[in-house]
Amino acid sequence: MSEPLVDSFGRIHNNLRISVTDRCNIRCFYCMPAENVQFMPRADLLSFEEMERFVRICVGLGVNKVRLTGGEPLVRKDLHKLVAMIAAIDGVHDIGITTNGILLAEQAQDLWDAGLRRINVSLDALDPVKFKEITRREGYENVLAGIQAAQRVGFDPVKVNAVSVRGMTETEIVPFGHFARTTGAEIRFIEFMPLDADNAWERDKVLFAHEIIERLSAEIMPLIPIPDQNPHAPATEFVFEDGVGRIGFIASVSQPFCMNCDRFRITADGKVRNCLFSLEETDIRGLLRGGGTDAEIADAVRASVAAKWEGHQINTAKFIQPDRPMYSIGG
Ligand code: 5AD
Ligand code: SF4
Repeated sequence: MSEPLVDSFGRIHNNLRISVTDRCNIRCFYCMPAENVQFMPRADLLSFEEMERFVRICVGLGVNKVRLTGGEPLVRKDLHKLVAMIAAIDGVHDIGITTNGILLAEQAQDLWDAGLRRINVSLDALDPVKFKEITRREGYENVLAGIQAAQRVGFDPVKVNAVSVRGMTETEIVPFGHFARTTGAEIRFIEFMPLDADNAWERDKVLFAHEIIERLSAEIMPLIPIPDQNPHAPATEFVFEDGVGRIGFIASVSQPFCMNCDRFRITADGKVRNCLFSLEETDIRGLLRGGGTDAEIADAVRASVAAKWEGHQINTAKFIQPDRPMYSIGG
């Protein structure tokens, strides 16, 4: 392996997130517009072979963790085949997926058999009416069935990502606490970030992690931080005092973890982004399709990571929301 991927703040990047499609079968308000979404033309999406080549090149630069995202990754046909191709690359130690769970029940076994071991299911509400209000689509029962199917085939723990929005998801906090305790799923509350397509984000709509910790501690029982956590994991993890029920917090707004960031992304149309909030991208698809050598692609990735900012500026007046909303960046 050559020099690791390092930025000017000394952060080493070993964690690649690949968006496999910008399409999705639901329309969460914090990510997508309600109607008339402009999806990328299919010919613009990287093929599995192109993604595999890109992962191989990145592994040569020290990447050892890969996560597949979307849009909704499970709407990409035969996704388990891509999982198997990536799992077969020497040097990839860890493959994960972040899915909305709607198609998970039917794919969980194939994904497991292909070598997937980490799964995060996005579910923001346990109340079906609230689920529909947030996602603007049906599918609540399928998501619950997907979580159960994933647990049945062996994923442990299944992590559930719940975006927390003030004025909307307060009612879900305590039910999720009980859900973690009864199902063994780990619930991770994520602060609402300014990546929505409708530009409706406001600081006042962020339901902060510390408020959720207080609610759960008061209404269920105290939460205790789990010792010796991986400093590169974005979530801070807790367990209820009696040892039953794990809860994580991704406090992206109130406690940004940028100083420990080890991740970069490639979009479904083959652009490398060194941060969720980047305003600039590096075109890799052109190199992949235009006869670029592995060394040229590696140099492009290196340059992108080297140019990474210190972190997002959500908490300052300088913050500029990127043009791409979440569904076309990949979570
Ligand atoms: N703020 C916070 N989290 C978000 N996600 C998508 N959009 C946002 C947003 N604006 C979450 C999804 C998913 C993960 C990829 O990111 O719910 O769990
Ligand atoms: Fe990393 Fe950017 Fe997210 Fe900060 S905002 S943690 S730098 S991806």
